[in-house]
Amino acid sequence: VKNGNGVKGMVDLGLSKVPEPYIQPPQERIDKQTARTYTQPPIDLSKLDGPEHERVVEEIARAAETLGFFQVVNHGVPIELLESLKEAAHTFFGQLPEKKAVYCKGVSPSPLVNYGTSFVPEKEKALEWKDYISMIYTNDAEALEQWPQECKKVALDYLRTSIKMVRKLLEALFKNLGVTLDDSKIDATIGTKMVNMNYYPTCPNPELTVGVGRHSDLGILTVLLQDGIGGLYVKVEEDIDSGNKGQWVEIPPVPGALVINVGDSLQIISNGRYKSAEHRVRTTSTNSRVSIPIFTMPRPTEKIGPLPQLVEREGTGFKELVFQDYMNNFFSNAHDGKKSLEFALA
Ligand code: SIN
Ligand code: FE2
Repeated sequence: VKNGNGVKGMVDLGLSKVPEPYIQPPQERIDKQTARTYTQPPIDLSKLDGPEHERVVEEIARAAETLGFFQVVNHGVPIELLESLKEAAHTFFGQLPEKKAVYCKGVSPSPLVNYGTSFVPEKEKALEWKDYISMIYTNDAEALEQWPQECKKVALDYLRTSIKMVRKLLEALFKNLGVTLDDSKIDATIGTKMVNMNYYPTCPNPELTVGVGRHSDLGILTVLLQDGIGGLYVKVEEDIDSGNKGQWVEIPPVPGALVINVGDSLQIISNGRYKSAEHRVRTTSTNSRVSIPIFTMPRPTEKIGPLPQLVEREGTGFKELVFQDYMNNFFSNAHDGKKSLEFALA
């Protein structure tokens, strides 16, 4: 199977320098020295249920309106589970290449499970230094039957507990816009759910490669567990402090915290109020890194567009579209910053 060994398989065979297809053009390489660390403390979600509710809603909304990225603690996902997830990711990727390659596109025994490397290899100018396994959620029974043995239980627990948090975050975000969405509308808005496990092997020339190239996520909210290695960079679009527009900041690993980021679909639905942030990942020569995102996005058949209440108040630059079309466009192009969002412009 083509690419069945993944980047890890290649590194395990012994590499003294990065192969040509992985060498990024100079403008895409990551200058670690110039990035600042994002210093906003994580938001304490347990306070959403207490007297400080309004203040926390405000904090969540401000973060979503400016950087489009924030971290949360007391999020309801057990800390031991976060540890088990990182272990499960190392266990999965630590297997022999042929054990992982069975899940490659075209041969995978399940349409829900897909193992691969890079994002859209056939379209990329340079390949990403990353392997991943992707698990689509339909229902618990199918997940337990079809997701890989090495990680299915923890991945499912992670998804279940995270989705509760995502609903709370969405309630806060819509409340801040002055709109209420009923449960069935929220269900449809995050009707597609997926857990990925990413593995970024050590790299002999980290300055020439990217783990993931500049992109925004396509969905509503992404929940991300990163390990302690670091290397997740976000581009500042709106000032968070002062004078940082256009700069890259690093989202530092915080033990026990989860990273939350806004996706394109939420930017569209909120009529541009919440920003899907451009982000990318650096590799290192000393450590392999794992990260475990959950993607929430609309059902493929769902029509998405800015909420009518907002358009009435503000007008809009977005058009309405069927989410499947947005998805098809997203997954048929290489990562290219926020270009994906142009598909939704009126
Ligand atoms: C991604 O955004 O695609 C991955 C983020 C990460 O690994 O930290
Ligand atoms: Fe991403």
